[in-house]
Amino acid sequence: MFRIHGTFDASMFDPSGTSQAAQQDETIGQAAFDLHQDEIPLEQQQEASAGPSYGVASGDVEHRSVSYQPDMNLVVISNRGAPFDPNKPQTGGLAAALQPVVEHSGAVWMFSSENRGDGTERPLPLVRAGEGHVVELDLPAAHHRGYYRDYSNSTLWPILHSLSDRMSRAEEGYDSYRQMNKFIARAAFDLRDRDAFWVHDYHLLPLGSDLHNLGIERPTGFFLHTPWPTPDMIERVPNHRELMKSMLEYDLLGFQTNRDLNNFLACLRTYFELESKDGVVTTERGQTRLQKFPIGIDPKQFAEHLAAELSPAEQEKISSLLQNFEGAKFAIGVDRLDYTKGIDKRVEAFDQLLAAEPGSISLLQIAPSSRADVDEYQKYKEDVENAINHVNAEHGTEEWRPIHYTNDPFSQAALARLYRAAHVGVVTPLRDGMNLVAKEYVAAQDPKDPGVLVLSKFAGAAEDFNRDEALLVDPNHPEEIADAISKAAKMPLEERVRRFRSMMDKIGSYTIHDWSADYLRELDKSRITVPADQFHHLGLGWTNEAQMPLYQNYAAALTAYNEIDPADAALKEAACADVKSAFVALAAPLKHTQDRLWDLPAPTASRGDHRGQELGGRED
Ligand code: F6P
Repeated sequence: MFRIHGTFDASMFDPSGTSQAAQQDETIGQAAFDLHQDEIPLEQQQEASAGPSYGVASGDVEHRSVSYQPDMNLVVISNRGAPFDPNKPQTGGLAAALQPVVEHSGAVWMFSSENRGDGTERPLPLVRAGEGHVVELDLPAAHHRGYYRDYSNSTLWPILHSLSDRMSRAEEGYDSYRQMNKFIARAAFDLRDRDAFWVHDYHLLPLGSDLHNLGIERPTGFFLHTPWPTPDMIERVPNHRELMKSMLEYDLLGFQTNRDLNNFLACLRTYFELESKDGVVTTERGQTRLQKFPIGIDPKQFAEHLAAELSPAEQEKISSLLQNFEGAKFAIGVDRLDYTKGIDKRVEAFDQLLAAEPGSISLLQIAPSSRADVDEYQKYKEDVENAINHVNAEHGTEEWRPIHYTNDPFSQAALARLYRAAHVGVVTPLRDGMNLVAKEYVAAQDPKDPGVLVLSKFAGAAEDFNRDEALLVDPNHPEEIADAISKAAKMPLEERVRRFRSMMDKIGSYTIHDWSADYLRELDKSRITVPADQFHHLGLGWTNEAQMPLYQNYAAALTAYNEIDPADAALKEAACADVKSAFVALAAPLKHTQDRLWDLPAPTASRGDHRGQELGGRED
């Protein structure tokens, strides 16, 4: 932890002062911010920013132990949860990502149950899950439709994926969405003494602000699993300004890719004239740090899935599916039945491919139904099924069906087997946060005879895998997808192995465990960790690591000011203005920190009786 010594009084720096005043302040300021760099361990000084660094080049998965901030009692909150049963199917990437975090870190994970409640708050039913716990909340029936169907999935979801044509009921559901977030915040209030809150996905954009409004002052972080769009796209969401403002109540905002992070920063610039400096945005509330944390998988666990025993029923299902492809090439697509996944265009690509190369390859499309009460999803299901029927009628024979399609969900272990058997993995969403199917398909391959990944340019995974690894395509153009599938199916072994190894290195060097550990390490920087025996130093001069960039800006401005010859009045005046604005930027979060410091445990009597006086008589 960096420490800034001494106390600090905002009134010391008179923003309307002259250069002479500034000269005087410089002495006070320097003393107030006497940074003891020698207290910073070297590795911390050299620490790179969060995110993957791909260094391993072996093709083997490197297994490293990753710390989950073991002393952090974490609360995880999301709409969807995981079943915590390897034989049950999981829905979406979020569940797959958070299950290991909770199992290994001892976190409490709160998510929506399958039941609806009457809105009455009840004691939280904590159920053990590995080292952690889960709490399933019965969300109030009265607001569920507006929250989940109307606002989250008919308004936010299409816009976050830049598919505004799919947006409907733009005005509906917002009130329920806000009420539901407040309800969840009240439920989380029972966990207020835990160290930090990690909120997930677009259903809960304003939850951080609701937690703060209830007086919860622990660090709160948010991670967005979907993409974030450009300013002109988010403009179509009613209340977008209010929502984005509430997001700035979080201490840390995490995005999947640089594209999403940059889009969000562009929105802050457009709608609030806010600029980030070193990944930090400062508002009256305090600081919000913004970073990318590309989500990964656990390749070791995926290897274990391949070896795991399936239930007899699932084994039977898998065997009969695979019988369809015996001796022939097939590609696999695994997606929630969602219009963002580009399944219709993929089917069109097969239509074109089979017209050019009859009987060359089949498709196994697994598409569990999703959000069936949203009109657009019902329409999409019909469109996909009509397109598949057309291809099968056009290109099928008595003995051979081009596309095998099922809405059944499968366990991870069953999917691992299907991925391994498929010659091509087709992951062609129109837009996607990351798409873990892309990584899972690669992780399931036989290193000696791997399949090839055809990947949409607009999936987050395409920021991880380059052209020398996956075959990147524009998912809006079936002809491009068709060409890529054809190329993949014919690719020589040597090239397949080279591409596979390179992708495996990346998957192994930044796993789901690295993702969560990186995120939690960053979130932990917002925790106030003033040692109890230093309590008498409390004041604005104490801060946390996350505030360092602003302090450094201030220190740099002060140094620049000092270096200017006093004879050069104009330059001195300009430098003084820089010092002042750096000071103003720093003062707000420091004040915020001070407000939160009083949550710290009271010092024990043995540590000295004088401290109460120095703290202005406060007990804590
Ligand atoms: O990973 C994206 C995501 O939208 C998650 O937010 C969600 O949990 C999952 O897909 C499935 O969606 P739903 O919970 O609506 O079935």
